[in-house]
Amino acid sequence: MHSHVKPLEWKAGEALLLLDQRILPHQEVWVTCRNAQDVATAIRDMVVRGAPAIGVSAAFGVALESSLPSAGDLHSRVRTAAELLRSTRPTAVNLHWALDRMLRVVDSHAGESAALSKKLAAEAEAIHAEDLAANHRIGQYGAELLSQRATVLTHCNAGALATSGYGTALGVIRAACEAGKTISVFADETRPFLQGSRLTAWELQKDGIDVTLITDSMAGHFFQKKQFDAVIVGADRIARNGDAANKIGTYTVAVLAHTHGIPFYVAAPITTIDAACASGADIPIEERSSGEVTHASGSGEDGQLHTISFAPAGVEARHPAFDVTPASLITAIITDRGVARAPYDESIAALLATSEPR
Ligand code: MRU
Repeated sequence: MHSHVKPLEWKAGEALLLLDQRILPHQEVWVTCRNAQDVATAIRDMVVRGAPAIGVSAAFGVALESSLPSAGDLHSRVRTAAELLRSTRPTAVNLHWALDRMLRVVDSHAGESAALSKKLAAEAEAIHAEDLAANHRIGQYGAELLSQRATVLTHCNAGALATSGYGTALGVIRAACEAGKTISVFADETRPFLQGSRLTAWELQKDGIDVTLITDSMAGHFFQKKQFDAVIVGADRIARNGDAANKIGTYTVAVLAHTHGIPFYVAAPITTIDAACASGADIPIEERSSGEVTHASGSGEDGQLHTISFAPAGVEARHPAFDVTPASLITAIITDRGVARAPYDESIAALLATSEPR
């Protein structure tokens, strides 16, 4: 199978290597994490980002921590590490889901430390592998929704870099291309962190998929020009009623799609659905540093990390990192267990009740 870019590499029991997404696309630098603290810092600082990828990374962070030699009680050390990782980013539920799954292994293990450490590594590896498989199933379900020739708008990066290595929204696009469809992608640059220009444009270009970069503010113009046949985005957390949190600016795109009668699809693994959230109002929205709005940083062609400012010093700025798209604007939610449509309360409950396909 064709291999795509990947955000992480597990060196069993030794280290987790993370591709530094802050300085893509001009440099490919791998950051080495040897314990949970290293992984937590990397998640907080956006070395690795994207809901499934931070869940997988956190699971490996717990596994790494459990393999370190230490005199203290292993169970409590691992629990502390999990809580540190949990505190890094609040919105993507996959992070919390992965940590809860790792903690269930800890809870059910009464034996010796070496055996627990092995079990935790195996669990993290399983989470990683299952996510990749889920991406491919999302791709299969989603590809059927696209016509033989289509231009698709996406926002942020829900690609290989945000997952175990194929993507959710971009997984649908990849699967459609693999099925012989002719797909062109428009990528919103996705201010302020620029996941669209730095990551989506880069990984699609690397795969030879036709991609055109636009600024977020250009989307309305291209909708008016009837440029798009569909919108596909990822999600960080989906409530029981189908409301979906995703990168800031997604809601704006959904309103535009609705106004112009263009289908708006959300592609996400079942692990992104949070049954504890009745609606989008229950989803915590991360507020990041205003410095990410007043400044931009990235690597120049020289490979060095540069930061520039384009706002008056001291100006008030806000940075909610996600917004919630109401279910009423979502044409369908494409998961690894099938496609949910309105009424979402029923279709999501039915998907959650289905066991995972093997
Ligand atoms: O702040 P980020 O870059 O972690 O936000 C990522 C997104 O909003 C993605 O669209 C989402 O996590 C889905 S990734 C498959």
